[in-house]
Amino acid sequence: REPYVVTSKGHTAAAINAAAKAGEWIKSRQGQVKELGSKTSAQDLVTEVDKGVEQMIRRLILTHYPDHAILGEEGVLPGADALTAALDEAREHDYLWIVDPIDGTTNFVHGFPFYCVSIALVVKGELTVGVIYDPTRDEMFVAEKGKGAYMHGIPTKVSAETLPGNSLIAMGFPPDRVVAQPANMAGLQQILPQVRGIRAGGSAALHLAYVAAGRVDGYWEVGLSPWDCAAGVLLVLESGGKVTDTQGDPYDISTRHVVASNGRIHDYLVTSLQAADATGFKKQ
Ligand code: IPD
Ligand code: CA
Ligand code: CA
Ligand code: CA
Repeated sequence: REPYVVTSKGHTAAAINAAAKAGEWIKSRQGQVKELGSKTSAQDLVTEVDKGVEQMIRRLILTHYPDHAILGEEGVLPGADALTAALDEAREHDYLWIVDPIDGTTNFVHGFPFYCVSIALVVKGELTVGVIYDPTRDEMFVAEKGKGAYMHGIPTKVSAETLPGNSLIAMGFPPDRVVAQPANMAGLQQILPQVRGIRAGGSAALHLAYVAAGRVDGYWEVGLSPWDCAAGVLLVLESGGKVTDTQGDPYDISTRHVVASNGRIHDYLVTSLQAADATGFKKQ
């Protein structure tokens, strides 16, 4: 079959093309990493493939749109201050691409086949295109603002589940041991006994795509960065779901603590995180 239906033109086609090429390359490098490095800690990995793929995506986008800006994970120094500065700079551009070359680097390094490429386009502050490509399953998730979300030409739709007790929930653990890990552990402890199951697959972007596709009913994670979630957020919204921060406030690209769901169990997730003091925000 055709690997992905490209009915879209312009920006969306450019994003799909870049994600497909990047994904193919990443898959071909699985098990062959040559330079394994770490950033903030031994839990925060980076390889030559992350860096090379980011360069490749950058080149592919800039060939079409030389005056657009690109915010990519491997182009920003680790740490909250560098991210804030990069976001401030990025916001000045009318056309901003947000790129995670490999979301799920730890999985990639271990040969655990759950990782993806994530590419979003923000036009004048508004999320406009979101593409997530899982090379292992050859699944290309595409969302366009106001036009819906698709996987291989078939519309994606969030689940209809209304009961937490029947819900499968995804979450994750970023490397930050100070704020993110304790908050996510507290959330896990609160929510696990009340739902059908919890999965922490190690790719925020793919978890968001799975919310969009109705494969999980909700997802939350404290301590994300814009490249982890920008594309996935648009996928969820265009699939009929809801995305806020962990306090229930609207998502924007600087949101670090994210809740995404089918909409129906959203209040349950936000309320539970608040009850467990697991929002990642300091108590007011
Ligand atoms: C990470 C993954 C992981 C999530 C972390 C992210 P990376 O991204 O999405 O699932 O728990 O918060 O940093 O570093 O593999 O691109
Ligand atoms: Ca990383
Ligand atoms: Ca990531
Ligand atoms: Ca990454």
